[in-house]
Amino acid sequence: MKHTKVKDLLNSTTTLQEVNAKGWVRTFRNNQFIALNDGSTINNIQCVVDFENTPEETLKRITTGAAVSVTGTLVESKGAGQKYEIQVTKLEILGDSDAEKFPMQPKKHSLEFLRENAHLRVRTNAFGAIMRVRSVLSFAVHNYFQQRGFVYVNTPIITGSDAEGAGEMFKVTALPFDNTPRTEDGKVNYKEDFFGKETNLTVSGQLEGETFAMALGQIYTFGPTFRAENSNTSRHLAEFWMIEPEVAFNNLDDNMDLAEDFIQYVIKYALDHCGDDLKFLEGRLLEEEKSKPQAERSEMALLEKLNFVLENNFKRVSYTEAIDILRDSTPNKKKKFNYIINEWGADLQSEHERYLVEKHFKCPVILFDYPANIKAFYMRLNEDGKTVRAMDILFPGIGEIVGGSEREERYDVLIEKMKALEIDEEELSWYLDTRRFGSATHAGFGLGFERLVLFVTGMTNIRDVIPFPRTPGNAEF
Ligand code: 4AD
Ligand code: MG
Repeated sequence: MKHTKVKDLLNSTTTLQEVNAKGWVRTFRNNQFIALNDGSTINNIQCVVDFENTPEETLKRITTGAAVSVTGTLVESKGAGQKYEIQVTKLEILGDSDAEKFPMQPKKHSLEFLRENAHLRVRTNAFGAIMRVRSVLSFAVHNYFQQRGFVYVNTPIITGSDAEGAGEMFKVTALPFDNTPRTEDGKVNYKEDFFGKETNLTVSGQLEGETFAMALGQIYTFGPTFRAENSNTSRHLAEFWMIEPEVAFNNLDDNMDLAEDFIQYVIKYALDHCGDDLKFLEGRLLEEEKSKPQAERSEMALLEKLNFVLENNFKRVSYTEAIDILRDSTPNKKKKFNYIINEWGADLQSEHERYLVEKHFKCPVILFDYPANIKAFYMRLNEDGKTVRAMDILFPGIGEIVGGSEREERYDVLIEKMKALEIDEEELSWYLDTRRFGSATHAGFGLGFERLVLFVTGMTNIRDVIPFPRTPGNAEF
């Protein structure tokens, strides 16, 4: 007999004569009630065991974590909390679970403990919910772009370029570490390496994406991205997933419109398709906040916060305006910021971004027109000669969730910028071809997928929204 998903059983509109469910035991109460979960939903189905006619030996093996198959009748439940339950007629233990040793006991575990058990934490309510929401969000990303005629492009993971120019790359090499081939002047001879040149894991698919946008019009990438920045924060991963749309003939305003519409769409999609999971995560968050001092608690519950983002326009503010606000802010005057804002030109730290979003504007903010020298080489220079058509989207509790720009489409201006930054023209000759042959205005952005999942699930550490996080000092599993 084929088993039915717990989700479908719970959503049944009638009682059923014979059903079979397979899953893992969450709890076993009074030698009679199994709470069974199969991952199809946050909700467990209650399975009532006929303990009088079940051998003692079998009852002992119904332990938390065990895999079981139950066959029986789907009946209306007399207990509170569920409409249907299974009156078990046949129970089979598929896989035993040592009750003493199983790490996911039915009690509250710290997130640190769960991270150390990332292969088992997905068996808890919270992580099951997070991973289902993550899956639905990635489907929503594809849906959004596919419905609008964007072409999905798989940009290379191994590249020779450093798109962001920050030098935070993981090298890819097949050279031996001992006895490394050297050139005459003692440098590593990459000509003898696998690709015949120096290569690294990609920090962004943007540059390759731009070449496709200049032929296909509207494209997006969605793939793994790597950064060797040694920042051990709750917002950074060494391996994360990034979504990068790129659109020919779009300017910065179009780019902001696209980003805002896109983010609102995927959040709405999650609200429409992950109701049970989000409700559970909201409850979890409320519980967690009880232990925090009043001042640190968020003003809105999770669902309210998500709806707020849907219903309110993102506030668009220039970098220059933002600097004025920050310079005059109380934490700046009282020297509460770690980095005091004195002058125009300062790079914004996450404490400043969060002040703007959480304290000053109290809504998502799009900052634009940043100083040229704190942004990447490919951004379009404004008429003032000192700012570029950059935009960062800042979210409450997250800080930067999106970074993007209108691109420098003028060959001469771009070359000059590259010279000033000592970026090898030869190496990026293919990129410059987009400006040599039919160049046009275009723009795009990058959304950090895990930062989006953080926001939607209300979690606070990015390590808790990716199955197996990679961070400095940690590549377990
Ligand atoms: O602002 P970033 O560096 O922009 C780019 O890479 C551009 N090439 C994007 C583009 O215009 N096509 O990164 C974009 C986003 C950030 O806003 C952030 O959400 C996320 O990627 N991000 C990270 N997420 C997790 N861990 C990290 N170490 C991240 N670094 C960036
Ligand atoms: Mg950025």
